[in-house]
Amino acid sequence: MDVDEFHPESLTAQGLGWVDDATRAISPPLHLSSTYLRDADNGYSSGRVYMRDQNPAFDQPEALITELEHGHQTLLFANGMAAATAVFQALQPGDHVLAPKVMYWSLRNWLLGFATSWGLDVELIDMTDPAAVQAAIRPGATTLVWVETPANPLWTITDIAATAEIAHAAGALLAVDSTSATPVLSRPLDLGADLVMHSATKYLNGHSDLTAGSVTTRADNEHWQRLRAVRAQIGGTLGSMESWLLLRGMRTLFLRVRAASASAQRIAEHFDADARVSEVLYPGLPGAAGHEVAARQMVGGFGGMLSIRVAGGEDAAIAVAAKTRLWKRATSLGGVESLIEHRASVEGAGSPVPSDLLRLSVGIENVDDLIADLGQALG
Ligand SMILES: Cc1ncc(COP(=O)(O)O)c(C=O)c1O
Repeated sequence: MDVDEFHPESLTAQGLGWVDDATRAISPPLHLSSTYLRDADNGYSSGRVYMRDQNPAFDQPEALITELEHGHQTLLFANGMAAATAVFQALQPGDHVLAPKVMYWSLRNWLLGFATSWGLDVELIDMTDPAAVQAAIRPGATTLVWVETPANPLWTITDIAATAEIAHAAGALLAVDSTSATPVLSRPLDLGADLVMHSATKYLNGHSDLTAGSVTTRADNEHWQRLRAVRAQIGGTLGSMESWLLLRGMRTLFLRVRAASASAQRIAEHFDADARVSEVLYPGLPGAAGHEVAARQMVGGFGGMLSIRVAGGEDAAIAVAAKTRLWKRATSLGGVESLIEHRASVEGAGSPVPSDLLRLSVGIENVDDLIADLGQALG
């Protein structure tokens, strides 16, 4: 399939059009071998030695993500945390890194705990303000700026192009966690980022039935080679079945993300006008702080994630989540089923999340059903 001839929707539906050479199968065979035959001349003409880092099940989903992100190469990992932490593990002790105050909480905890004790100098800043990035960056010392946009779970927006310019002027790489935006709505590498990471557990797979992660690079460089070594040697790699399922899930990525994003926009607008909700956090609302930047760097929608703040406070918010019937009370996001979560209960102390906040992951159900169910739960 000529990738220049077809739109990304077509490439994704057909998994780049790959067909198995041996069987002409349209859906790829499941590769389960952990090891590969060495040639009589002692070489490995197949190019594969051992499954940990050379599983052929990675090839097609990695190639598809690379194509969707307009990148040079992608590596799959066992989950989003393995992917994200590999980016930091490929740095050197003493390196200064900037990360946002509002970001996926588990990665923030890892950065402040484990990564810091292993010698990274981690500084959390307001990444939505380019002036704050400019003030915090240390030319020559800062090696990585980490961005998440829209950022969990307040859905704040970072200007990728502006941040990339500041990072590059200081000699740092820019990495973007684009899990909630997906390559359907945003292409960070085209905006100047060097690396884009996904928790593929979420929208890329889309069916809440596996964990996976990916990192895509714009260029081959020393950091990327170290990152490759982190995956090969530390081995947080994806299993064959999960790789196969991920590709299966990705085939419907465009339909799912566009449906979820359109429904999220309607839900946000609906509850923005509801007095029982004190605030709707969604970048698609014209009054949202990052709306203009989001409109510039996202194409075709603002994503399927939003949060609401319940006017009655924390107890009322927990009661709303308890009363929904269609929205499922569970963590995670990006699946075909809509999820609701009282986020402060998950993130605990040190989180910037207000205690009255409910995070909503909008699925692909009928949007009127979702609005009605949340409406009745609000009481
Ligand atoms: C934005 C974001 N990044 C990273 C992760 C971590 O991904 P995983 O749960 O696949 O390890 C998550 C998980 O919720 C996430 O929401």
